[in-house]
Amino acid sequence: MKSYKIALIPGDGIGRDVTDAAWQVLKKAADAGGFLLEGTEFPWSCEYYKETGEMMPADGIEILSGYDAILLGAVGWPVDVPDSVSLHGLLLPIRKRFAQYANIRPHRLLPGVQGPLRSDGFDILCIRENTEGEYSGAGGRIHSGTANEVATETAIFTRTGVERILRFGFEQARTRKKKLASVTKSNAQKHSMVFWDEVTQEVAKDYDDVEVSHYHVDAIAARMVIAPESLDVVVASNLFGDILTDLGAAIQGGLGYAASANINPDHSVPSMFEPVHGSAPDIAHLGTANPIAAIWSGAMMLEHLGEEQAARTVMQGIETATGQGVGTIPGKDRTETITQAVLSAVG
Ligand code: NAD
Ligand code: IPM
Ligand code: MN
Repeated sequence: MKSYKIALIPGDGIGRDVTDAAWQVLKKAADAGGFLLEGTEFPWSCEYYKETGEMMPADGIEILSGYDAILLGAVGWPVDVPDSVSLHGLLLPIRKRFAQYANIRPHRLLPGVQGPLRSDGFDILCIRENTEGEYSGAGGRIHSGTANEVATETAIFTRTGVERILRFGFEQARTRKKKLASVTKSNAQKHSMVFWDEVTQEVAKDYDDVEVSHYHVDAIAARMVIAPESLDVVVASNLFGDILTDLGAAIQGGLGYAASANINPDHSVPSMFEPVHGSAPDIAHLGTANPIAAIWSGAMMLEHLGEEQAARTVMQGIETATGQGVGTIPGKDRTETITQAVLSAVG
């Protein structure tokens, strides 16, 4: 029987609840599909940091490299661990060290879910650059605490990085409506974003079957709300993609619906699957977190592992549950109720 080794990192806050929910559904889909998911849980989190002084052990990346995929809940507990410590100690190094350069974030309305801004015509695939750009970590502070203090955060865009994310986006567009929107802010940012526009035009020559549009990030944010049917695949830098995908989640109905896959297409290193949302301290421990984003992320994991039929089964489970009105109104159904509805649909 085929078997996959999965590293489970529930992390902080609602990360635990939604990962448990996703894992139950994935295990059931694996049983039905005739393959095995072997999970190993890692307690790496802000709690772990408070006990050990680190978010994960020094050889954490090495440990994870032995797995076929990583399923992560959420990282961050700003109540007593600064985000700059927790995210740079766990989530961001995993993305970077495994070169999970393509962050795939699908945004569409599920059956029965009424978004606050759109009730139909919303189906976008955001491809977010995931390893460089505004998240490069370059920069610093000088003259700390004085009136002359200066803080810099240097965005670094490499030809390799920009070209590969655009090629990835073009390939995705070929499997959809063959439309790609490239997002920049080249009217204000005259180095990196003009460079991005140039690389887009060069790469586009290899994909003359795909229609390319260029948008500034502010304009596409409005377009996502007003005329999303004009969009298909949206490719954006790390920070712009981060912001646009919380907007995408909101249009879907809320953060509890938005899934993501951090992909390195080279299967020799693990890719990571996690909801777009964070640890939600405001609702942690209430048992009301929506697990759909995490379950959907799990379906993306199955697809990446090559278990397409099981991935479809999980998605059908989610859609059957929401189609029956379970998990369609934020905060109405408990995590457990939504999970059970998906589980029985998967069965
Ligand atoms: P958040 O996504 O955790 O929460 C934003 C809002 O959305 C909150 O009102 C929350 O209750 C709601 N929400 C989020 N997920 C939900 C779900 N599944 N069901 C129902 N409601 C949900 O963002 P935040 O409050 O800015 O961040 C909290 C912490 O999480 C911070 O430490 C932040 O850095 C971290 N964070 C981590 C990740 C990640 O691990 N990938 C992503 C985003 C934020
Ligand atoms: C996300 C999150 C992370 C990001 C944070 C927590 C560093 O917001 O996955 O969208 O910005 O990438
Ligand atoms: Mn985000």
